[in-house]
Amino acid sequence: MKFLGIETSCDETAAAIVATGAKSQGPGKIHANVVHSQIEDHAAFGGVVPEIAARAHVEALDGIISSALNQAGVALKDLDGIAVTSGPGLAGGLIVGTMTARALAAVHDKPLYTINHLEGHALTARLTDGCAFPYLLLLVSGGHTQILLVRGVNNYERWATTIDDALGEAFDKTAKLLGLPYPGGPQVEKAALSGDPKYHRFPRPLSGRETLDMSFSGLKTAVRKAALEAKTLDSQMISHICAGFQAAVTDVLTDRLSRSFDRFEQMFETAPTLIAAGGVAANAQLRTALSSLCQKRDARWIAPPMELCTDNAAMIAWAGLERHRLNIDHKDEGIRPRWPLDQSAAAQPGARPFGAGRKGAKA
Ligand code: KG4
Ligand code: ZN
Repeated sequence: MKFLGIETSCDETAAAIVATGAKSQGPGKIHANVVHSQIEDHAAFGGVVPEIAARAHVEALDGIISSALNQAGVALKDLDGIAVTSGPGLAGGLIVGTMTARALAAVHDKPLYTINHLEGHALTARLTDGCAFPYLLLLVSGGHTQILLVRGVNNYERWATTIDDALGEAFDKTAKLLGLPYPGGPQVEKAALSGDPKYHRFPRPLSGRETLDMSFSGLKTAVRKAALEAKTLDSQMISHICAGFQAAVTDVLTDRLSRSFDRFEQMFETAPTLIAAGGVAANAQLRTALSSLCQKRDARWIAPPMELCTDNAAMIAWAGLERHRLNIDHKDEGIRPRWPLDQSAAAQPGARPFGAGRKGAKA
């Protein structure tokens, strides 16, 4: 079976052609995975501007879909279905993707699957590694910071979320405060290399509490204070602040994951497999810390290749294939800009809707 996947929920316009493999749990086969990043369109604003994103998706999407079909050497009529991200994300982009997918599905008489973007991330480890259920997912991007128990297709439990900023957003805001360009994550990581992580002892928010949830806004305030109080904010001081920030973030994630491992072990009487996804999962220090945590705890650690950790349409096509194979309902309910993967998880009072804090105009 082969699916076309379409992804336009944030600042990547993407299309992919993915096929199932011999085994039902994967791995699958990626015939084409085309991603156009809009980073340059947004860089001047220091964050994603929803109106610019929507316009850029309109301009790029048709060409991206054609490239994916050409690269895979398939025609729309040969496909078994079409999967498109219908949430969560920025409404304008979601409309562009779903309208296009709907039109293609209607014209070529193919089943249409409207997919939760987070489900795409959650199932990627099956596309790449044929990972069996259940497993734990750490999703850390510019819009999301969650620890999820992935029990099966359509069966997710959110164990932790941020109660304020997403982690990628915290990296981007830290960079902005220090005068580093957008997107901030890679810049902070680079600067941190020549800094002393102990020069500033930044807070580890919510540490010692029972919750697995995370909070990064206090950390951001501490970074701002350190920057304001520095006699000279030269490149050495910027490096110290970045190193201190990264150390705090790494400690927080390691602490929450270690306790998530305890919970998993109590439930399943075995150590978990941990999957990392999202742009922040590119951070080398974080990857090293997570892989050594897994080693210590006898857990399996899977970090899918970077191009499948960040936003892409292969994961959306794959989620469509998994649903199609299991005959899971595929009613088109239109776009859902706010759409928790675990419907039973309570909304966090301080958490912003996807994208709200990412716009360049905001601090
Ligand atoms: O998953 P992603 O590419 O896009 C969405 O958020 O939708 O994640 C982008 C986020 C940005 O906030 C960026 O600063 C962060 O991931 N990021 C990093 C690194 N590379 C990207 N954060 C920390 N370290 C990195 N190396
Ligand atoms: Zn994503």
